Parts: sequence; structure tokens; C-alpha cells
Amino acid sequence: MMEIIVSTVALIVLALAAVVVATGGRPMRSLAAAASRRETLWRNRWPILWISLCVILTAGFLYWFYMPPAAARGPVQPIAFSHRLHVNVKAIQCEFCHPYAGRSNHPGLPPVEKCLYCHNHIIANFPEIRKEHAYFDTVTPTPWRKVFYLPEHVLFNHQRHIRKEIACQNCHGAVEQQDRLTGEPFRMGFCVECHRTRNANLDCWLACHN
Ligand code: HEC
Ligand code: HEC
Ligand code: HEC
Ligand code: HEC
Repeated sequence: MMEIIVSTVALIVLALAAVVVATGGRPMRSLAAAASRRETLWRNRWPILWISLCVILTAGFLYWFYMPPAAARGPVQPIAFSHRLHVNVKAIQCEFCHPYAGRSNHPGLPPVEKCLYCHNHIIANFPEIRKEHAYFDTVTPTPWRKVFYLPEHVLFNHQRHIRKEIACQNCHGAVEQQDRLTGEPFRMGFCVECHRTRNANLDCWLACHN
């Protein structure tokens, strides 16, 4: 929010400065001259309109493409599960639900039985919890949508990192403050930077790519 205000003010100041410079320090006199130019503008109204429309559409497209409002939160999950509530408010350890992080390549997502371990008793009739019962009764694994992923050709394992006591948050961000998880794509530079500072393997082909 702060960034938006600061950049808007900066833009206004820049625009005013541009007006003063462009009019040779006499904006008012140029305004009078502009009045006579109004007729010229009117004659060219269609091209001007089209150009403005194109500029607006392009800006709009770029905005939606690079920061669609929904990207502020991750994919919609089948059950409105909240890490903030379970980890932060209810103080459940990550390892309780992701027990394999330190032991295998795949931390694993909790099966519905694990949710029901608590939710058979806690708010058992809440609509979101009823969905869990439905998955349990029909023996369907909850179709959670993946948030973090690496390209196929990148080798990664949790174990090696957890053993070096690297916190989950280093790579996954402040999971405990999010209701719906937001994933950011991992960039190779991110992996390499830490490997460099921690003297870990930087050998591309044997270590990280196959
Ligand atoms: C260790 C116990 C425990 C486990 C395991 C657990 N929960 Fe919860 N969950 C809670 C508690 C406590 C609440 C808060 C209940 C309340 O608001 O009174 C809660 C609340 C919820 C809510 C309601 C949130 C809201 O919007 O108010 C949902 C949905 C939920 N849990 C889903 C899950 C799912 C899915 C799992 C399995 C991945 C799970 N829970 C595992 C203890 C647990
Ligand atoms: C009560 C169970 C529970 C606890 C505690 C919990 N998680 Fe999760 N976690 C889940 C469930 C269910 C999902 C799948 C739904 C989702 O992505 O929100 C998940 C998804 C994730 C994912 C995204 C996986 C993907 O799809 O790419 C990460 C990363 C993660 N958890 C990290 C953590 C960390 C770090 C902690 C501790 C700070 C933690 N979790 C604590 C249940 C839990
Ligand atoms: C060094 C970085 C790093 C650390 C530290 C880390 N993760 Fe991950 N995590 C990843 C990457 C990268 C992926 C995506 C892996 C993939 O797509 O194969 C991932 C995926 C996951 C997933 C989804 C797994 C799945 O099967 O879909 C969960 C859950 C998860 N991490 C939980 C945790 C937890 C809990 C911790 C802390 C105990 C943790 N991670 C620590 C980098 C890390
Ligand atoms: C916060 C620091 C950190 C980040 C971020 C990190 N790593 Fe690591 N990584 C390490 C350390 C430290 C080791 C060495 C572990 C050991 O010696 O057992 C390691 C080891 C590895 C290994 C095993 C290398 C070998 O010697 O065989 C692989 C593969 C790997 N990392 C891949 C990745 C990938 C892929 C990413 C990015 C998604 C990543 N790492 C991000 C710190 C990090």
C-alpha cells in the first residue's frame, strides 16, 4: 500500500516538473496557447482516442498478466485449510502433518485420517469438515492442489536440507501467516545463492540437474 502512495506522489511531482520544463517555466501562458490548439485536437479526436485506448488496454493486459489479483493468494484448495490457524493459532508442528520432510524426498501431505484425528471431535459438523468425512467415506485422497513445484529436470530432496537445520520458511516463506498458501516459483539463482554461501554443492549436472 505504502509503495503505491509513494510512487503515485512521485509520478505527480515528475509530471508537474515535466510541465514546467516543457513550457519553459511559464505553464499559464502555454495554457492560453493550448486553447487555440484545441481545434487541432478535435480534428484528430479519433486517432487520439484509438491511441489512448491501445495504451490503456496494453497497460491493463500487462497488469493482469504479471500481477493478476488472484496471484496474491495461491490456488483454491478443495478444503479451505488454513496454515495460519493450525500452525500459528493452534500451535501444531509442521512435522505433525508433514512427517517425512526430514526422512525422505517427499514431505508428504497429511491424509484425511490425520485431519479427522482431531476433527472427529472438533467442529465435526462444520461444512468444510463434512467434506473431509466425504473424502474419508469414499476413500478418495483429498485432491489438494500443488503450490510449490520444481521443473521435472531439477533434483531436490528435503532430507539433506532439513538435516542442515535450514528452516522450512527459508524456502516456503511465512507459511504460518497464510490462510491459503501462495507459492512462488523457485528460481535457480535462489538455490545457487544459498549453496554458494553455505558451501554446498554447486556442481550443476551431478547435483541438481539430470
Ligand atoms: C491437532 C488437531 C488438528 C488437526 C490434525 C487438524 N485440525 Fe483443523 N482445526 C483444529 C482446530 C483446533 C480448529 C479450530 C476450531 C475452532 O475454530 O473452534 C481447526 C479448524 C479447522 C477448519 C475451520 C477453519 C475456519 O475457517 O474456521 C478447517 C476447514 C480445518 N480445521 C481443516 C483441517 C484439515 C483439512 C486438516 C487435515 C489436513 C486439519 N484441519 C487437521 C485442529 C486440527
Ligand atoms: C494440521 C496439518 C498441517 C500443519 C500443522 C502444517 N501443514 Fe502444511 N499442509 C497441510 C495441508 C493439508 C496442505 C495441502 C493444502 C495446502 O496447500 O494448503 C499443506 C501444504 C503445505 C505446503 C505446500 C505443498 C505444495 O502443495 O506444494 C507447504 C510448503 C507446507 N504445507 C509447509 C508447512 C510448514 C512449513 C508447516 C509448519 C510451519 C506446515 N506446513 C504445517 C497441512 C498442514
Ligand atoms: C531448501 C529449500 C526447502 C526447505 C528448507 C524446505 N522445503 Fe519443502 N519444498 C521445497 C521445494 C523445492 C519443493 C518442491 C519439490 C518438488 O516439486 O519436487 C518443496 C515441496 C514441499 C511440499 C510439497 C511436497 C509434495 O509432495 O507435493 C511440502 C509439503 C513441503 N515442501 C514441506 C516442507 C516442510 C514442512 C519443510 C520444513 C520441515 C520444508 N518443506 C523445507 C524446498 C524446501
Ligand atoms: C537456505 C539454503 C539452501 C537453499 C535455499 C537450497 N539449498 Fe540445496 N543444499 C543446501 C545445503 C547446506 C546443502 C548441503 C547438505 C549436505 O551437505 O548434506 C544442500 C544440498 C543440496 C543437494 C545435494 C547435493 C549433493 O551434494 O548431492 C541438492 C540436490 C540440492 N541441495 C538442491 C537444491 C535445490 C534444487 C534448491 C532450490 C530449489 C536448493 N537446493 C536450495 C542449502 C540450500
